Amino acid sequence: MIRNVSTTPYNDQKPGTSGLRKKVPVFQQPNYAENFIQSVFDSLEGFAGKTLVVGGDGRFYNREVIQKVIAMAVANGFGRVVVGQGGILSTPAASNLIRKRKAFGGLILSASHNPGGPHEDFGIKYNAENGGPAPEKMTDAIYARSKIISAYKIADVGAVDLDRLGTSDVGGMKVEVVDPVADYAALMETLFDFDALRTLFKSGFRMRFDAMHAVTGPYAKEILERRLGAAGGTARNFVPLEDFGGHHPDPNLVHAKELYDEMMGPNAPDFGAASDGDGDRNLIIGRGIFITPSDSLAMLAANAHLAPGYKAGLKGIARSMPTSGAADRVAEKLGIGIYETPTGWKFFGNLLDAGMATICGEESAGTGSDHVREKDGLWAVLLWLNILAERGESAKEIVTKHWATYGQNYYSRHDYEEVETDKANALVDALRAKLASLPGTSVQGMKIASADDFAYNDPVDGSVSKNQGIRVLFEGGSRVVFRLSGTGTSGATLRVYIERYEADPSRHGHDTQAALADLILAADDIAGIRSHTGRDKPTVIT
Ligand code: G1P
Ligand code: ZN
Repeated sequence: MIRNVSTTPYNDQKPGTSGLRKKVPVFQQPNYAENFIQSVFDSLEGFAGKTLVVGGDGRFYNREVIQKVIAMAVANGFGRVVVGQGGILSTPAASNLIRKRKAFGGLILSASHNPGGPHEDFGIKYNAENGGPAPEKMTDAIYARSKIISAYKIADVGAVDLDRLGTSDVGGMKVEVVDPVADYAALMETLFDFDALRTLFKSGFRMRFDAMHAVTGPYAKEILERRLGAAGGTARNFVPLEDFGGHHPDPNLVHAKELYDEMMGPNAPDFGAASDGDGDRNLIIGRGIFITPSDSLAMLAANAHLAPGYKAGLKGIARSMPTSGAADRVAEKLGIGIYETPTGWKFFGNLLDAGMATICGEESAGTGSDHVREKDGLWAVLLWLNILAERGESAKEIVTKHWATYGQNYYSRHDYEEVETDKANALVDALRAKLASLPGTSVQGMKIASADDFAYNDPVDGSVSKNQGIRVLFEGGSRVVFRLSGTGTSGATLRVYIERYEADPSRHGHDTQAALADLILAADDIAGIRSHTGRDKPTVIT
């Protein structure tokens, strides 16, 4: 039986950088998830009888919301729901399934690298038929709908057994429970030289992959250990847990410190990596060397032709504006296009669909290519492995040579988390107000060349996205960028991105914070971080 349930709108269902993210108790309010899901469906047209993909990163509340999605998909007229076994699908695997199954779209349940559990975070995002995050005009429509929604449709169907593979009939709609890993692993086999990787591991190459008790555990076990023959135990923390074992599944130097310490230690493996809650981010650490995500993007782009899937070369590279300019130098040398987009993967979709970019990346540990329409943690790891296998050099050698060829972009991000929203807004407002007066002035002995609030003109559909981060550029190419996070769930997070280019190899590989010290001071002089927030240091430095 299909019910039309009347509801009242919530006023806070505005999707952020990556879907709607809230604390679990917020999502557990009566009709909260239903309102949002119906708002998504109401913003779409023409899905009757079509396929919807659904899955999540396994965090607390995942299974409950999947049952709601299925019951609402029946009532709204979808023909089929494809769901990962156990409710599990990594974000890139979901993107792949949407594309492969020619689905109408998909709902991905995740709050990415944010912690999980009854009092932690949950999230829902909609991905369109290209497999990519809904573009801004769609998320705007969803939000607008959520503010006036008065009813949602749901079918009275019993809970579907998410653990049993196979197809069943649910209220006249097909529900197909699929292996979450199989199609994704098959895609990876088409891109990378699995024989060369097997030979690499057979030769004694040692690796550590930290799945952080999040979604990539089963993917890493299958691909790295079973298919590629990496030693048992290569994947650590590989059982997905609803609360990620109480940790932040955020692959950075703070939350993946154990991995970092191991990679810097005396008996370090050859290569270390980690991924986040939903499997779209990556952390790459060579023996004795951390590789910043911005550098990793540049190095992957420079060497991608060594992997079978990219041997024809790249069409172009895209990076988010706060990501360092390291990739720009690679694009220049390769003679291909480089695109600078606002933060968030949704801005890469058009470039990938239009065949203008092959590889994309963000400083926040996201890298990916046109194989799906999301960033992809394990993809980055496998591409690195393929490059290491082909070049027969250590990660450190590859990095050092890259810097010698292109120069080094010293880069760091300083996050001030859970700042009171008013204070963060006041800081940004004050900064905006003085942007025009900054050029020509000097801070910490460095002259400001230009300052603006980044706006993006999408070269494919002509859409304009304003207020995407404040950038202050110094003479000589150094810069600081300020923006507020669009993914946090409590207070505001101020992100400060700091970058300096260094051409001279004798000055490469030094301590990053020391190399950026004057710019860090300049950032505070310009934005008044201490005075506005009362903080004397960032919460997280990456
Ligand atoms: C953060 C990252 C951004 C990434 C997003 C989703 O967004 O900075 O690069 O696309 O998470 O993973 P933010 O919190 O900065 O809005
Ligand atoms: Zn993520």
